[in-house]
Amino acid sequence: MRTTAFALAALAAVASASSDVADLTKDSFPAFVQGDSPSLVEFFAPWCGHCKALAPHYEEAATILKKDKINIAKVDCTVETELCSSQGVNGYPTLKVFRKGVASDYSGTRKTDGIVSYMKKQALPAVSEVTAANHDEFKTADKVVLVAYADASDSKTQKTFKEFADVYRDDYLFGLSTDAAAIAAAGVTPPAVVMYKSFDEGRNELEGDITDDSLFLFAKEHSVPLLDEISPDNFATYAEAGLPLAYIFIPSTDAKRDEVVKAVEPVAREHKGKINFVWIDANKISQFADHAKSLNLQEPTWPAFAIQNIQEMTKYPLDQSKPVDHDTVAAFVKDFVAGNIKASIKSQKAPAQDEPVFVLVADEFDDVVAEDKDLLVEFYAPWCGHCKKLKPTWDTLGERYANVKSKLTVAKFDATENDVPPSAGFRVAGFPTIKFKAAGSSEWISYEGDRSLDSLVEFLEANATNDINEPDSVEAELDGETEVKSGRHDEL
Ligand SMILES: *[C@@H]1O[C@H](CO)[C@@H](O)[C@H](O)[C@H]1NC(C)=O
Repeated sequence: MRTTAFALAALAAVASASSDVADLTKDSFPAFVQGDSPSLVEFFAPWCGHCKALAPHYEEAATILKKDKINIAKVDCTVETELCSSQGVNGYPTLKVFRKGVASDYSGTRKTDGIVSYMKKQALPAVSEVTAANHDEFKTADKVVLVAYADASDSKTQKTFKEFADVYRDDYLFGLSTDAAAIAAAGVTPPAVVMYKSFDEGRNELEGDITDDSLFLFAKEHSVPLLDEISPDNFATYAEAGLPLAYIFIPSTDAKRDEVVKAVEPVAREHKGKINFVWIDANKISQFADHAKSLNLQEPTWPAFAIQNIQEMTKYPLDQSKPVDHDTVAAFVKDFVAGNIKASIKSQKAPAQDEPVFVLVADEFDDVVAEDKDLLVEFYAPWCGHCKKLKPTWDTLGERYANVKSKLTVAKFDATENDVPPSAGFRVAGFPTIKFKAAGSSEWISYEGDRSLDSLVEFLEANATNDINEPDSVEAELDGETEVKSGRHDEL
């Protein structure tokens, strides 16, 4: 089975007896990644926890993929520093797929199944040829398989399908059959597209014309299970689907789990293709980025239910004093679809403004934004080190412009206690995030400059609509600068 590929010789040379994962050095690396069939390389550090968690899955996947001539290797970046930096590795583990020496980022999961499925797709052409001989095997070759059946002369369908497959090859396995026997076995009249899947009803046929749009909607609607458990493993599938995501939060140890999930299934079925439904193990939430909290649910009242609109970044928790049963969930989802439920926005109470900078909270966000003033906001988290470091500068900035409060607001927004309202149109991903909105404009500009007082002042003066330098502000200005300069001096 191990035939000619040059890379395989390299694999045989470096793999230890007990492992199918090759250990690469800067000398063995080039030959290993040169092969025609794709190879997967993990760049790791021995102390890295995520690398350790990946290791057993990686080993298992390597053994399975060996049969498909897909080579799996790892590089210890604490030893091969030169190789790792030449590959642009700046975090662990970094996984890259190589084909003929060309790298692309691995975007699959870090579990055995996910690695195997991802790499198998990489090894195949975007669309595999399906005949009666391999039809049965191909249908079950992955969790979701899409097969187009077309007459040999129907180049239009074949072209549409191939173009779609080129774009989504990482997500689904694609096959095309022009073989009359395979078409008969599938029981379809060409042109047809069938999805074979390892869950729910197992098979779906695309109705209507085969176009790029219809393929996209068909794949999106049917490729996720009706009501699966969501985990870090499959989260990306749901995020990419882009549909609102409805969660049942329930501990997997809850004796009523099956009952609760079953009760919600008819609601999921009714909204299939419009809302995805999942359940999440409420006992494991801490591992899953405090998900309940981020949906504004209070622990530990389980089961709980919430809908997240992934595209609009909004959330709709069901009142936790209500039961999670069929009727309650059905009514809630119906109201959600009708637009009758307001997004939940977490907010602190508006404080007395006795700090040098304006303390902005979610409840007042829209009002403050609507004022005809220039507005500079720091979105911060109390635990963030860079934010703490910025605080004296930010306070000085607030003091400096204290006398032009009717023209410019220098504000801070604790993004751990307040949700940035969807009306803002942006999401805060890192701290601190500094945004500016000029008076009379509705457009937010990201401040990308350095976090020195001078740069911030320069930015404001260049970008503010209002005249923010009133004659009597000169004194405050000097004070501000003196303070910061002496502060710097102390540090030196
Ligand atoms: C004014 O804002 C723009 C972004 O719109 C930015 O590129 C520019 O650097 C700002 N000006 C100054 C002097 O900081």
